[in-house]
Amino acid sequence: MEQPRVFDRIADDERLDAVGDALRRGVHAVLRPGVVKDLLHGVFLGHPLHPALVQVPIGCFASAAVLDIGGNSRDAARLIGLGVLSSVPAAAAGLADYADSQQDHRRVGVVHAAANSAALVCYVASLALRAKGRRRGGVLSAMAGLTFSMAGATLGGDLAFRRAVGANHSEHASRVGPADWCDLGYVEQFAESKPTRRMAGDIPVLVVRRGEDFAVLHDQCSHMSGPLSEGELTEVDGVDCVQCPWHGSVFRLDDGRPAHGPATAPQQRLDSRVRGSRLEVKMA
Ligand code: FES
Repeated sequence: MEQPRVFDRIADDERLDAVGDALRRGVHAVLRPGVVKDLLHGVFLGHPLHPALVQVPIGCFASAAVLDIGGNSRDAARLIGLGVLSSVPAAAAGLADYADSQQDHRRVGVVHAAANSAALVCYVASLALRAKGRRRGGVLSAMAGLTFSMAGATLGGDLAFRRAVGANHSEHASRVGPADWCDLGYVEQFAESKPTRRMAGDIPVLVVRRGEDFAVLHDQCSHMSGPLSEGELTEVDGVDCVQCPWHGSVFRLDDGRPAHGPATAPQQRLDSRVRGSRLEVKMA
């Protein structure tokens, strides 16, 4: 029988839940929904912020290793200092995403965070050793830090590319949703201001009736595929929105853009029209 990959074994390991759940509760206690949380998720970018921020410490640490090998310990120490400082916002953005992820992802996330924390400890120790004139110890400590950092980055890649953390879970709707008008049923079947789920061809859609108008979005949340039709209608800055029931992302009904994270990508939107007494939709 084929052995599960090491990362899959981590994702299945329930022993990580005690630490993972405590960390999640801690992040939620500190980071309440609002501007800072949205900023850390990257809502303003339309893209997760964490992968962009981690480029700085990883680049600094890798470059410092090259300088150390070349004997330029002084500039290596400067880069390590910059790498340590830039790790702080990168970790904050990662923790924000971590706290709004699902349990198997959090297990991998805990190990990812532990590897990066170990790297940070090694780099701080490296700076301390260099400050005392112990260059050899400082270089060895930095090399240990780079090893932990690469392990952390590999786990981050597993989260992003295998487990689709941070990916847009609504993007495929533009390709598999109905390109031509598709019937959703009689108009009177849709109650006023009540999220309703229907199938439009191969994709589930959320329909919200607002008088004579209809807002229609892909029903799978772009964050992690949560069912928007089971969410609550709400208002942000006077704009009608729907809130995902899973992690609280809020999307504008008019254009599908996220008003609040953790989602950063918009929901795919569908055009609608009433023909006779029936509602029809197609991908916008
Ligand atoms: S699935 Fe996470 S906010 Fe919707």
